[in-house]
Amino acid sequence: MRQLITLFALGMTAISAVHAGDYTAEIDASRATVSEFMQTLKQELLAGMQDGGPVNAISVCNLSAPAIANTYSVRNDWDVGRTSLRVRNPANAPDPWELSVLEAFEERKRAGEDPAKMEHHEVVRQDGVKKLRYMKAIPTAKLCLACHGEHVDSIARARLEKLYPDDQALGYRTGDIRGAFSITQPLGTAGK
Ligand code: HEC
Repeated sequence: MRQLITLFALGMTAISAVHAGDYTAEIDASRATVSEFMQTLKQELLAGMQDGGPVNAISVCNLSAPAIANTYSVRNDWDVGRTSLRVRNPANAPDPWELSVLEAFEERKRAGEDPAKMEHHEVVRQDGVKKLRYMKAIPTAKLCLACHGEHVDSIARARLEKLYPDDQALGYRTGDIRGAFSITQPLGTAGK
């Protein structure tokens, strides 16, 4: 019986949240990366739209967004990306932890919280390694509607259909939560 309880406890710690120590610096580092990611994406998107409208900017999102995320991942040895409850690119689909946070964000929005300020962080233990997981909600702005809205121009729509046959990221309205940035930082086996 005792063994069973121990096993059960071990099983729980393998997936459960760890009581957080002081990870203020690591949380701030995640926040800084998200802010840089957001700025870079917005600049590239605006430049792409100015050069040739949404159709041109689709290539920017298609190629640049994953490339930028990858640069941040490699630079820090983190996992950096974007995800959503309704993804355009299936490669951005949420894992179970991200899914529960995205659902909680929707709940918080229903309770009146502003999506622009929504974030969540948690220290978890995965495969014996402590990891800091951080997510920040991404609200839908007017600029996003050209490619995620209810009335996407037919040429842009055709281009999107070709690139993303399983696209679920249409039909959004301003203020909706489009998705979230997500960062996983390994904290190592030792320490706090
Ligand atoms: C010019 C078209 C275009 C515009 C404008 C645009 N997006 Fe996207 N968006 C895309 C494409 C294409 C992808 C798929 C990128 C990929 O393959 O990872 C995407 C993916 C995303 C994702 C990743 C999750 C998913 O659905 O795969 C998020 C989050 C997102 N966009 C948010 C936004 C927000 C917020 C705005 C406005 C600030 C915006 N987008 C504006 C084309 C656009």
